[in-house]
Amino acid sequence: MSQKPRLWITRRLSDATLARAARDYDVVVNEADTPGTAADLIAASADFDAVVPCHSEHFSAEVVAQFAPRLKIVANHSVGVDHCDLPALKARGIAVTNTPDVLSDATAEIAILLMLGAARHAVAGDRIVRTGAWDFWSPSFMVGKQVTGARLGIIGMGRVGQAFARKARGFEMEIHYYNRNPVADDLAQGATYHASVESLLGVADFLSLHCPATPATKGLLNAERLALLPKGAVVVNTARGALVDEAALLAALQSGHVAAAGLDCFVTEPGGNPAFATQENIFMLPHIGSATTKTRDAMGFRALDNLDAFFAGKSPKDLL
Ligand code: DGY
Repeated sequence: MSQKPRLWITRRLSDATLARAARDYDVVVNEADTPGTAADLIAASADFDAVVPCHSEHFSAEVVAQFAPRLKIVANHSVGVDHCDLPALKARGIAVTNTPDVLSDATAEIAILLMLGAARHAVAGDRIVRTGAWDFWSPSFMVGKQVTGARLGIIGMGRVGQAFARKARGFEMEIHYYNRNPVADDLAQGATYHASVESLLGVADFLSLHCPATPATKGLLNAERLALLPKGAVVVNTARGALVDEAALLAALQSGHVAAAGLDCFVTEPGGNPAFATQENIFMLPHIGSATTKTRDAMGFRALDNLDAFFAGKSPKDLL
């Protein structure tokens, strides 16, 4: 019997994923569950045929240039691949895959939670009840922004953007989107296409980001673009922190031009932005968009499906 490929799993994936990986591969799991460092990745390239990393491991060009020739595939346990220098990996002949589709609903659920929580003062409301500071009620108390029937702008109408739009339709929202190209009518489901981000922003009483972080989208939501939003807009980001100029967003929140924000991702992770912590109009979560049991299993299985195909000599479904 031929030897099983040797696989390094960089973080503690779901039990079902680890059990399947142990059955099919000669696997080492980083049970400490700490992010893999540059030195870890370089060492792994000499000892393993394959790696299953998360977005917490950074395959920069500098790191990849130091790889030993053994490593053949990076089968990401994530849909986002901004932690991977794809040209550098390609130049070394290393295959790269991701896990699209399977996390769209879980991430869209978190976007809905953030949109509602930001619009309806979830942070301040929870705090005053929790701390016993709730000693007043009036019809003018904690009045928020209604989601039902409002105009929603989506930047990035890929799988997650479409899943978010499907859920937002439950709130009868008027959906607009920007994407590099219009999506097919059966996917747009009546949403209005805007050929530029600027055009979309003008109608986005609620704005939700669903595009990947690339050199072209870094800092996409900057001061000039935030100023184009209708006054009192709500901004939601479940994609990547790099899409947002955080200083500009903070200034817009402090001036009241942006009423509230719901953020699941930040420029610095883990940790977030301490300057945001003083703002009760920012509802924040620690990058848990895809963190459900069902989705974690599905992500792990999708990464293993890609590995299985690769080692069977086939093209993995999610080869980038
Ligand atoms: C993804 O899959 O890109 C999520 O952000 C979790 O890593």
